[in-house]
Amino acid sequence: MLLLLSPFCLLLQELFPPTGASESGILGGETAKPHSRPYMASLQVRGAHTCGGFLIRKDFILTAAHCTNECKEITVVLGGHNISNKEDSQQKIAAEKCHRHGLHTLDRNDFDIALIKLRKNATLKKGVKCIKLPSEGESISSRTQCLISGWGMRKPGGVAENILREAAVSIQTDKECKKMWQQYFQPKRMLCTFDRKKGICQGDSGGPLVCKDKAYGIAALTDPNCSLSYPDIYTKVSSFITWIKETMNDKY
Ligand SMILES: *[C@@H]1O[C@H](CO)[C@@H](O)[C@H](O)[C@H]1NC(C)=O
Ligand SMILES: *[C@@H]1O[C@H](CO)[C@@H](O)[C@H](O)[C@H]1NC(C)=O
Ligand SMILES: *[C@@H]1O[C@H](CO)[C@@H](O)[C@H](O)[C@H]1NC(C)=O
Repeated sequence: MLLLLSPFCLLLQELFPPTGASESGILGGETAKPHSRPYMASLQVRGAHTCGGFLIRKDFILTAAHCTNECKEITVVLGGHNISNKEDSQQKIAAEKCHRHGLHTLDRNDFDIALIKLRKNATLKKGVKCIKLPSEGESISSRTQCLISGWGMRKPGGVAENILREAAVSIQTDKECKKMWQQYFQPKRMLCTFDRKKGICQGDSGGPLVCKDKAYGIAALTDPNCSLSYPDIYTKVSSFITWIKETMNDKY
């Protein structure tokens, strides 16, 4: 089939302030129970939500590389539910350094993974916890049910939502992903989910695809209109465990 999509359609949201949004992020799905996804982080630039991310160690957030272009401006908000609100549960910590994967290229959206070192350690408590990662090379079978969550748009061109939303989606076969996305889908480093009623949209980038309590994917790419007619693509975390460990242990 003819691929008419721009490969440049990243999920990085325009810098709309999260206030005033009337609809929630994630297409389809539902509002998350407050603080039930304690690993979720909202990456904010000048007070506006831009991307998701997730806590994997007290001092590190895992996200998509394309979410870290303005590293010096990023504030990580943990423990949030309604991010327009000054919630007591929130911990706002500045990014100290962003480690983008060295092979990340915008044209293919490949290797779309980055670690954000936090300026100070997060305080782990109810509502703020780390999520486990799969082991290197650990596979996940197609049709496995997973959960995506985010504060992204509910429709393209909309505004960021302030309440965390989530949706259950299932892993699609590599063959099906490849058929739709052709050369943009690299099964060694990507996973995809496909559901014609639910998916990710701008602002959900960098958020985790959680399967069996582990973060197997990082939201990376969807079609420009979040039309749900193409599978959503995630960076495959299990291909980067060695890179993650080496990067986190590199003291600087
Ligand atoms: C989220 O917080 C904002 C700011 O306090 C408030 O105006 C809005 O109504 C809240 N949203 C919901 C759904 O509670
Ligand atoms: C921050 O957390 C890391 C990882 O758990 C730990 O190694 C480090 O000692 C902590 N730093 C402080 C100042 O507590
Ligand atoms: C996205 O929507 C715009 C405006 O509705 C339309 O012109 C364009 O063809 C759509 N793109 C895709 C890939 O569906």
